[in-house]
Amino acid sequence: MAKPSLLLTFLGVHVHAAFYGPTFHWGLSLSDDIEPPAREVIQRANRDPTLTRSVPLRPFERYWGFLAEDSVLRDAEWTWRINISNIEAPDADNYYGDAIADPHVTSVTYDFSWSADGNISTALDGASGPLCVMTLQDAVDLPVAATNGYTEDNGDSSSCEPVLGRECVAALLAQVPKPRGTDCMFPIRTPWSEVPECRDSFGAFSPYGQSFMDWPLRRNVSDDRDGGRREWLSGQVFYSNVSKPLDGGNSRLYNYMANRVHIMMISVELPTGHEGQRAGGPELLCMRVNATELPEVDTDGDGVAFTYETVLESKGAQIPLLGYYRSSCLWLALCFAGVIFLIV
Ligand SMILES: *[C@@H]1O[C@H](CO)[C@@H](O)[C@H](O)[C@H]1NC(C)=O
Ligand SMILES: *[C@@H]1O[C@H](CO)[C@@H](O)[C@H](O)[C@H]1NC(C)=O
Ligand SMILES: *[C@@H]1O[C@H](CO)[C@@H](O)[C@H](O)[C@H]1NC(C)=O
Ligand SMILES: *[C@@H]1O[C@H](CO)[C@@H](O)[C@H](O)[C@H]1NC(C)=O
Ligand SMILES: *[C@@H]1O[C@H](CO)[C@@H](O)[C@H](O)[C@H]1NC(C)=O
Repeated sequence: MAKPSLLLTFLGVHVHAAFYGPTFHWGLSLSDDIEPPAREVIQRANRDPTLTRSVPLRPFERYWGFLAEDSVLRDAEWTWRINISNIEAPDADNYYGDAIADPHVTSVTYDFSWSADGNISTALDGASGPLCVMTLQDAVDLPVAATNGYTEDNGDSSSCEPVLGRECVAALLAQVPKPRGTDCMFPIRTPWSEVPECRDSFGAFSPYGQSFMDWPLRRNVSDDRDGGRREWLSGQVFYSNVSKPLDGGNSRLYNYMANRVHIMMISVELPTGHEGQRAGGPELLCMRVNATELPEVDTDGDGVAFTYETVLESKGAQIPLLGYYRSSCLWLALCFAGVIFLIV
């Protein structure tokens, strides 16, 4: 992979540091915070990632029975894909501290693909309200015992039951009313860490944080804030997260992001065959990109082996997870589409 910055160095041009991260974005492009030379490097890496997994998904299957005869959603198979890259970033602006040797950033993207023609609204039978999406922040970790529910043996799936258990999944879904009009009925009042059926998974860890987006499925596409026509099409990124620069010898964050269970709740209100009747509601999706079965390592001796402890395998090591976002980026994301909240 050609590194523009290295090329520039070779040509004797002075290289300016560029901002890569930390930053995240709900939307069809990278965060506006990422500076142009960094954007190119990250986009190239995202398209040709270090590690990727895509799993089949029967979208909103629980509601198929209510859909119209000519529904394109019924019997549909989508895929959910996560790309993770460990990217060399020699020109990374180290905004936050001491000089770093051989800087790298970790980049994560999510996308959905479907086979029906048209954009995601068409693929959802012309649903016109918001598509509601919620993820857990990367800093929310699960015990290895839960993480290991998702291995290569059952890794061709987006089911959360092997990870969280059937009761926990049912309890989380039952908490969420179906969206109404433009209201996602998110965020949820009871944090997942306090749902009794989930005490062995989410209950084991604090702090707890969620990230939330409601995406209008029908809007004037030219309404976009930079005036462009931006449609959500099959295979297009809808979530991305780039870490702060870290020492290249330290691929721990990358390894953790690859090994952790990515959990996402999606919800939508769907049109049915009958005028004025609506179906739909929440659905929970889980995926690990690196589905290696992990040993239980409890480095801090608190009685629970967490995924980050096991992946780091060194006492006292700390995952640099609690990122300090550039406030502008955080607030832009908030204004644009989403809400982030942390319950400590
Ligand atoms: C993810 O990686 C695959 C290659 O494995 C690539 O085809 C795809 O475009 C990437 N997705 C995004 C959103 O960049
Ligand atoms: C993005 O990644 C960083 C780690 O680099 C993490 O601290 C943060 O929680 C992530 N953002 C979200 C919304 O998950
Ligand atoms: C979309 O565009 C049409 C025609 O230009 C306009 O009448 C309508 O108010 C717009 N809708 C929104 C939500 O801005
Ligand atoms: C999908 O296409 C319709 C019709 O062109 C448009 O109104 C809508 O805004 C698009 N939705 C998305 C999410 O791209
Ligand atoms: C997957 O994770 C395991 C455990 O952290 C690690 O040993 C292995 O190198 C990883 N594989 C890849 C391809 O990153």
